Amino acid sequence: MENILITGGAGFIGSHAVRLLVNKYPKSAIVNLDKLTYAGNLLNLTDVEDRPNYRFVKGDIVDGRFVFGLFEQFAFDKVIHLAAESHVDRSIANTMDFVQANVTGTVNLLNAARHFWKDHYEGRRFCHISTDEVYGSLGDDGLFTESTPYDPRSPYAASKAASDHFVRAYHHTFGLPVVLSNCSNNYGPNQFPEKLIPLFINNIIQKKPLPVYGKGDNVRDWLYVEDHALAIDTVLRKGAPGETYNIGGHNEWKNIDLVRLLCQVMDGRLGREPGTSEGLITFVKDRAGHDQRYAIDAGKILRELGWKPTVNFEEGLRKTVDWYLSNEQWLRQVTSGDYQKYYRQQYEER
Ligand code: NAD
Ligand code: TYD
Repeated sequence: MENILITGGAGFIGSHAVRLLVNKYPKSAIVNLDKLTYAGNLLNLTDVEDRPNYRFVKGDIVDGRFVFGLFEQFAFDKVIHLAAESHVDRSIANTMDFVQANVTGTVNLLNAARHFWKDHYEGRRFCHISTDEVYGSLGDDGLFTESTPYDPRSPYAASKAASDHFVRAYHHTFGLPVVLSNCSNNYGPNQFPEKLIPLFINNIIQKKPLPVYGKGDNVRDWLYVEDHALAIDTVLRKGAPGETYNIGGHNEWKNIDLVRLLCQVMDGRLGREPGTSEGLITFVKDRAGHDQRYAIDAGKILRELGWKPTVNFEEGLRKTVDWYLSNEQWLRQVTSGDYQKYYRQQYEER
């Protein structure tokens, strides 16, 4: 019997990680701690909500007393820490939210793990989920490895970098059995429609403009979210304490090429004339400090832990589009209220 805490389990990646663990480890007790911000949604987990090995707790990792109380109640052996503010554009507008959730929230969890594990680290792991954005921006060549120096350039990336540093510091100073992973851009079902792919799917459905930042020549390395969930489980089970593993899709796309492919897939699925959705592409003012290129060398996790991506991009993109088209109610629900306000501020009033 093991007690696993997953933070941020109602969000995009977290919900896929929860589903994987609840199904794969029926004898483990899995607690999902989530504040249910705009990005967290229990509709993402209706298929597992009644499982005996699963429990949801609403709460805020920024509240240190609450976090300690939860550790006392559930005696966690393992933590998979995903809860975070995660969108770069929001971090430019509201940096303090990112400092609170990503830095203070992470340190609260580290303090609780340290306090309750009391130097008994056998079977215990603190698995911290981070991003490739901490490494900065690449030119035309090269890949981020685990030894690439940190060079965060957006407030989001800076807050994640700070949290990574605290996680490593708790390993070096207190011996806490941490393991870190830094992953590239994820895509797939349940992603909040503020990120590129689901935002554009939503706009294509509604025949709204597709706001491509700058020239659309920025490059991202895309990984299907279920592959990331499998990687997280691999790192949790096999990762060595104090180590970092980069996770990526070996799948680099220039934004504009990706958007064109998405338009083709959507036209096919919606029965629209080829070229219809491409007509919606609109080049807009670039994101401030927009990182040019991210690309991951995921060789270490393959060599040492045996993980590699399994879903190719065309297949993953089709699965993603089909999920959004079959779950328009989810899309309509998460895009009501506050979303309209965010959209106006981000795209219409700037
Ligand atoms: P998301 O925004 O979809 O979900 C984040 C979840 O955290 C939400 O459910 C939200 O309610 C919860 N949360 C936020 N603040 C909280 C708080 N103070 N207390 C408790 N819960 C809180 O994010 P995501 O895309 O699923 O990313 C999850 C993690 O993976 C993040 O740490 C992110 O930095 C990291 N990551 C994401 C990507 C990506 O492409 N999405 C890539 C690499 C790493
Ligand atoms: P995003 O999904 O926000 O992820 P990240 O910034 O963390 O990589 O953006 C992916 C790429 O798409 C990034 O280069 C910014 C670009 N982008 C647009 O061109 N238009 C948009 O409306 C959004 C949200 C992103």
